[in-house]
Amino acid sequence: MLVSVDVGYGYTKAVADTGRRAWFPSVVAQGPGFGRLASSIGVAGPGHEVTVRQADGTESRFLVGEAALLSNGVRSWDLTSSGRRDYGRLVLSALGVLGVAQPETADVDLALGLPLFAFFQADERRRLQQQLAGQRAWIQVGRDGGGYVHIRDVKVYAQAVGAYVTAAGDGASATQGPVGLIDVGYRTTDYLLLNLTPVGPVPDEARSGSADGGVGTAIEGVARSVSEETGVLVPDSMVESALGASGALMVKGRRYDVRDMMTRELEGLGARLVDQIRRAWDDRLDFLDALFVAGGGGQAMFPQLKALHPSATLLDDPIFANARGFLSLAQSERQA
Ligand SMILES: Nc1ncnc2c1ncn2[C@@H]1O[C@H](COP(=O)(O)OP(=O)(O)OP(=O)(O)O)[C@@H](O)[C@H]1O
Ligand SMILES: [Mg+2]
Repeated sequence: MLVSVDVGYGYTKAVADTGRRAWFPSVVAQGPGFGRLASSIGVAGPGHEVTVRQADGTESRFLVGEAALLSNGVRSWDLTSSGRRDYGRLVLSALGVLGVAQPETADVDLALGLPLFAFFQADERRRLQQQLAGQRAWIQVGRDGGGYVHIRDVKVYAQAVGAYVTAAGDGASATQGPVGLIDVGYRTTDYLLLNLTPVGPVPDEARSGSADGGVGTAIEGVARSVSEETGVLVPDSMVESALGASGALMVKGRRYDVRDMMTRELEGLGARLVDQIRRAWDDRLDFLDALFVAGGGGQAMFPQLKALHPSATLLDDPIFANARGFLSLAQSERQA
């Protein structure tokens, strides 16, 4: 089976070649399985409790996704992906949630992505491959029966390239000149300039890269403002939960409209990203044939980003654009 997993700093997105999908916040935490508490009052707890047993017998049990956020888990913030301590556990959890693990071991070929700055370092790509290729594990999610997986092969792609392939598959292949792709995520913004040549699209390395900043940066900004106003240290995860719920956060009996604050933060950040990308694409921007925008942050900041180019388009399904692209890249490599 072929599975693509886009382990973002914010969210893990996974797609199997069967069409099944999974996504959850990229957070792992140790903690009591409060799913048990939730089920005792008759509701399903959010997120997942995952058990992984490695081939050497070591077993670990942890919470993933919303369950981990609620247990005060934090996203691992290491810049190198292979150094991100939770990368492997997030990938195995995604396989578990997708229902890939089987009583008779399932062979899995993985397609993964790295942000551009990491992808351009061959060491980074190799480390990620070595970390996962050949692994055998037993995975159980919640109280399902559990099953075995064997990671047979690992392919590593550049993040924004995945999104580009999705855009091309969605009908962009008719374009002629250079094409721009901007993928704004939770923490990083990848910008990719592709020159279309007779042998296919070739990335312009000098004009492609990653900028710091994404939806998470804006959430941090809101948390900082509320902290400064109240004198109470407000965790980012609390702002994130409030944004996903009523849009308001109560601190010391006072109501803060974090949704409004977030809109202003995103406007400021969007403008800053536009400046940065303008500088990187300086002499090419006017000559782009098309500009595609992907990622959860791309969706949130599209009103600002579209000022870059008259033909800027937000991809359909922008959050899964990379994962879908890695899957089709791996599929076409298999057929070649
Ligand atoms: N399934 C979803 N439904 C609605 N919004 C989502 C979903 N997944 C992510 N988001 C939004 O998108 C934002 C993150 O975007 P995305 O998933 O592209 O980032 P990422 O890939 O995790 O980050 P990075 O590319 O920096 O590693 C989240 O903060 C959230 O606002
Ligand atoms: Mg991303």
